[in-house]
Amino acid sequence: ALLFLGARAQHGSQWTYSEGPLDQTQWSKEYPSCGGRRQSPIDLQRRNIQYNPSLKALNLTGYKSQGGQFPMTNNGHTVQISLPPTMRMTAADGTEYVAKQMHFHWGGESSEISGSEHTIDGIRYVAEVHIVHYNSKYKSYDIAQSAPDGLAVLAALIKVEDYGENTYYSTFISQLNNIRYPGQSTVLSDLDIRDMLPENVHHYYSYKGSLTTPPCTENVYWFVLASPIMFSRAQGWKLENSILDHQNKTLHNIYRMTQPLNNRVVETNFMNLPNEQHEQGKGREGERENPKQAPHLPRRAGLRA
Ligand SMILES: *[C@@H]1O[C@H](CO)[C@@H](O)[C@H](O)[C@H]1NC(C)=O
Ligand SMILES: *[C@@H]1O[C@H](CO)[C@@H](O)[C@H](O)[C@H]1NC(C)=O
Repeated sequence: ALLFLGARAQHGSQWTYSEGPLDQTQWSKEYPSCGGRRQSPIDLQRRNIQYNPSLKALNLTGYKSQGGQFPMTNNGHTVQISLPPTMRMTAADGTEYVAKQMHFHWGGESSEISGSEHTIDGIRYVAEVHIVHYNSKYKSYDIAQSAPDGLAVLAALIKVEDYGENTYYSTFISQLNNIRYPGQSTVLSDLDIRDMLPENVHHYYSYKGSLTTPPCTENVYWFVLASPIMFSRAQGWKLENSILDHQNKTLHNIYRMTQPLNNRVVETNFMNLPNEQHEQGKGREGERENPKQAPHLPRRAGLRA
């Protein structure tokens, strides 16, 4: 029994996305929730979502610039920034959530591979940011993480435009070199998380799902912003190529494949996507199957989806 527990504990820190005995197709063997019916991420299919005009905008407080120190760590799976409990998000149903940390998912295995976790009509974006919160009715994240209504994640997709540097990310990107190895940390000061989000935070997709990494707990209320964050090509490249994993290999393709929707419903609070580029694709069936003919799609679109 002790040997068995030892093996489990060891595995616990060794899950991977695509290599070794505990890649994402095997997670459910060690973490049964990963095989559940309410998993994340999912493909957000615009023809299957439900418009709910009563879904109010998220109320984000304490997201604006504030002094203070934000520890940023390479945890071997991604880069993670710790967030202060003064940052809060109130959902449309009135539930208040306390921010805990933000982290990223990206691709980059070869130069044209995207790596967001959620996809929109099958299209994978370059990268994705997750701001993880816990329900304020619980005393701490540790308690909330196993409660059925414990967590909420505010997610935004990252899109690359050729040369326009997103200066709200410059400090973050430049610090990645200082946390090259797993376990390394640095400190960011005076972060403005609101600025790091898209200008439009009013419109979102929403559904009930799970953590996208083990233990894949099915207690996450997801809010995926409809507008993307813009990076320059150089910023996208740096995000994808700065951080090493436990084997000292560059951390690439750190995203989970989309999971079945099963009986869940995805709701939105917008009728048409506010993003003009999405508007162009509206109703033109077939573009999805042949992304090469759709010049308005995000860079690298479809190559992996
Ligand atoms: C947003 O939340 C804060 C703190 O919970 C509250 O004081 C404020 O009134 C809320 N604003 C809106 C527009 O609901
Ligand atoms: C990774 O590289 C660092 C620095 O060169 C070294 O100390 C460490 O032992 C290496 N780890 C592995 C698993 O090779």
